[in-house]
Amino acid sequence: MQTRLSALSRSVSGKSVIVTGAASGMGRATAHLFADEGARVVVADIGNDRVAAVVDEISRVHGAERVVGVVADVTNDDDRKRLVDTCVKSFGGVDILVNNAGISVASSVFASDDDFMVAWNNTLAVNVTAQAHLIRLVVPHMRAAGVAGRIINIASTEAIVATPGLAAYSAAKHGVVGLTKSFATELGRYGITVNAVCPGPINTNMTAGIASEAKEKYARRKVPLKRYGEPEEVAHMTLNLSLPASSFVNGSVVVVDGGMTIQH
Ligand code: NAI
Repeated sequence: MQTRLSALSRSVSGKSVIVTGAASGMGRATAHLFADEGARVVVADIGNDRVAAVVDEISRVHGAERVVGVVADVTNDDDRKRLVDTCVKSFGGVDILVNNAGISVASSVFASDDDFMVAWNNTLAVNVTAQAHLIRLVVPHMRAAGVAGRIINIASTEAIVATPGLAAYSAAKHGVVGLTKSFATELGRYGITVNAVCPGPINTNMTAGIASEAKEKYARRKVPLKRYGEPEEVAHMTLNLSLPASSFVNGSVVVVDGGMTIQH
């Protein structure tokens, strides 16, 4: 007789999660959501006070034993190692990595050589190179523990389409998709999945500098839902991809953009 459904877990309770860029925006929302769902969370970002603030927010709701803060620049080799070591020491391993830290810097084809190179190097270092190095650091821990690891790389709709003046950002985010797919093909045999999330325009610090009238106009023209998204609307997709039950989703590029990129 056929069973109705297998008992795949739809919970991250007890899992150890690293979220980079967790002091703000989508990273902060993701750290909160995982904690709300019972996970143990490492909040990683630059800025002592900013990290401490999110750790405090989470520990006030769930208790200090469920969250650890690490002040870490994801472009720094030693910081990345300390970040992963802290998760292992604090929570006994790493089940889930959310590579979320990112920057957006103008990089026009018409910029000066110096400006372009600084923007290019910094953007690629944070937005894609750091993701690759962090994945390489967590994988041995996932394999040693035999856990069905989950790696979520935050890309962008700039990984699918492009905006003038954002070459470095768009190149980095397209790179995130390539990195996701290649590592997904290598790691699948160990039950470790690697997926990318492509948010559209989201209300975070990254977009806080855009005037609200400009945002409204943009959303009216470009987004079928006629609005910017909120950080937690992306965090919920990251959580879904992290579930044990998402065991056959691998190398996927999941767009969370209110329909922006499907509109002609
Ligand atoms: P945000 O600016 O609110 O948060 C980004 C966080 O990353 C900040 O807390 C920042 O300190 C941290 N960060 C930057 N460089 C870092 C470094 N070297 N080491 C450690 N942490 C670092 O921005 P948001 O929007 O929450 O960004 C999260 C991710 O979502 C980024 O990868 C971004 O590119 C991506 N994204 C954002 C979109 C938006 O409309 N806000 C759209 C599509 C993608």
